[in-house]
Amino acid sequence: MGALHAQILDELGYDPDDGRRALEELCVRDVPAGTVIAARDGARPVAVARLASGKLVVVADVCPHDGGRISDGYVDGERLVCARHGWELDVCEGRCTRAPR
Ligand code: FES
Repeated sequence: MGALHAQILDELGYDPDDGRRALEELCVRDVPAGTVIAARDGARPVAVARLASGKLVVVADVCPHDGGRISDGYVDGERLVCARHGWELDVCEGRCTRAPR
């Protein structure tokens, strides 16, 4: 990382080249049912998912277990599953529903 890149990161608080699209740039068809993608809400990384029921959800892209990226996981019905250790998250209830041993 060069000095200019480091300065931009420091001033903006996020990396504008991280490949995440801003929420306001997304269209409904970018998130078909059963998918989760990475996006950005201002400087905050978020995961945008469309659950099996068609409900669209936006959550912080940080797993409550150990900081994995929710957007690296997948949708299982009405839950999001973190790819890192397999925690299943009920985003509508805001809690973990299953943690593998
Ligand atoms: S970091 Fe998500 S399950 Fe462990």
